[in-house]
Amino acid sequence: MEKHYAVIGDPIEHSLSPGMHTAGYESLGIDAEYQRFHVKPSHLAEAVEGLCALGFSGWNVTLPHKEKIISLMDSLTPEALRAGAVNTVKLYEGQRIGHNTDGDGFVRSIEESLNGFKGKKAVLLGAGGASKGIALALAAQGMQIHILNRTPEKAKLLVELIKQWGGTATSGVFAPGDWLEDVDLLVQTTSVGLLGEPFPFTVQGISDQALVVDIIFKPGDTFFLHDAKKQGCRTMNGLGMLLYQGAYAWEFWLGGQAPVERMRQALKDQLLQRMFYKA
Ligand code: ATR
Repeated sequence: MEKHYAVIGDPIEHSLSPGMHTAGYESLGIDAEYQRFHVKPSHLAEAVEGLCALGFSGWNVTLPHKEKIISLMDSLTPEALRAGAVNTVKLYEGQRIGHNTDGDGFVRSIEESLNGFKGKKAVLLGAGGASKGIALALAAQGMQIHILNRTPEKAKLLVELIKQWGGTATSGVFAPGDWLEDVDLLVQTTSVGLLGEPFPFTVQGISDQALVVDIIFKPGDTFFLHDAKKQGCRTMNGLGMLLYQGAYAWEFWLGGQAPVERMRQALKDQLLQRMFYKA
């Protein structure tokens, strides 16, 4: 193999990235492989040294390492600086370059459905790492951001951060409210629904013009998306974000255009397989 890529995380066994990238390499005849490695937080620095020593060209980084790995980088791209997190590393002439494709991957995944960002209102449910990356990327596109979180202090901190980066943002209570009437984009970024549990409130009353996204991806709708669909909204799960963060990582490493449709199919195939075989 000419080039080696990987994803590191804890846990990592359910990552769909190896299948997605490998399908892409195969479709374009690229001599590369993509592996997954289980790296515990206490071994992150050694793992990074190991990947460098073994001649890896780059790797993806997933939870819980996205922030901790920053101190192990030689430089950061503007996207990684903005997110305060790294999900993609490239080794270039021995230098470790930390990048982040999550936020722009999300933006790309909704671009066609939202039809323009500037001045539109995005409401984000949750104020964790995922929300932060998405909120900063949407604010950079000129959207007005409204953050609702169970713990209001965290939402306020995120609002301050968005403002520091030149964006417009407010925060509110994690509950239905006036915001439902004039929201253009609603994004569910909390972990509620990961295990199939119901969402704590309904979005009844939401404008049916809104695009509603749940970043959880699994076959079938979460309760949250099911509810939004019932209100007449267009809905989307997190598969597009996963796809485009991967496509942008690919392009950062290899240049050219990632074979997005082949990668999308590989993601769908893996999810279907899991549904049937509970792998
Ligand atoms: P991630 O990096 O995946 O975003 P995280 O940083 O742990 O994960 O953030 C999880 C988010 O889900 C937080 O916004 C959290 O709200 P709190 O800040 O109040 O903890 C939210 N969350 C998790 N469980 C929740 C629940 N049962 N109800 C509402 N929000 C919840």
